[in-house]
Amino acid sequence: AVQKATNVTFQENLVGRDKRGQVLGQGNRFLGCTVWLTGLSGAGKTTLSFALENYLVSQGIPSYSLDGDNVRTGLNKNLGFTPEDREENIRRISEVAKLFADGGIVCLTSFISPYERDRAKARELHEKAGLKFVEVFVDTPLEVCEERDVKGLYKKARAGQIKGFTGVDSAYEPPSNPDVRVKASEFIVDECVNQIVLHLMELGVVP
Ligand code: PPS
Ligand code: ADP
Ligand code: MG
Repeated sequence: AVQKATNVTFQENLVGRDKRGQVLGQGNRFLGCTVWLTGLSGAGKTTLSFALENYLVSQGIPSYSLDGDNVRTGLNKNLGFTPEDREENIRRISEVAKLFADGGIVCLTSFISPYERDRAKARELHEKAGLKFVEVFVDTPLEVCEERDVKGLYKKARAGQIKGFTGVDSAYEPPSNPDVRVKASEFIVDECVNQIVLHLMELGVVP
């Protein structure tokens, strides 16, 4: 995207992470970070993100899920599924997730985010801002996703009614080195959530 905004100057907030952590965190600790789920359609991203959000909020940890299907009806409703639009989709979500995390919230994102380069940029954006970024690969084989066909989209894609569907005629680049890999076809939802939570505890994101 072309940089169009000129003559803008960064404005520093008066409230910093320490002060925010005292209000929103636990034990005066700032918890804001981003947990980035990636995987094929039907892999289990939405299910796991919402279950994890429910777990965290139940623990008193502020958390918010941003989901592809939902964001694409609002903020990103002017974007489709060409490679360029997917890139822009992920760029915007990376920025929004960074804002949530900076605000002291554990931001969960459930987007296919098919391109390694865009996910790497999302990580870089967070790490440059001193925010933790946890990439979770929801690793479910295409055959299982297609068998589940939660929304009937694979059927449509195979019938040629959807062009450029991920895994059918649009690429998915699996993460080469994810922070967490959940095998959502081999474990039940709660076990997958647990695997992510355990990792967040190791990182000190979840007390
Ligand atoms: S991306 O690639 O990250 O920009 O996609 P995302 O924003 O996560 O949106 C994916 C959801 O959009 C629906 N859908 C499609 N997915 C993939 N390819 C094509 N062509 C497509 N068209 C519509 C689908 O419901 C995806 O949601 P999930 O939850 O992954 O099934
Ligand atoms: P995505 O958002 O990646 O497209 P969804 O969460 O919409 O995936 O769909 C995943 C489907 O798989 C749901 O019907 C869910 O109940 C089922 N499922 C079965 N086991 C799991 C698991 N371990 N984790 C996540 N989803 C699972
Ligand atoms: Mg989903």
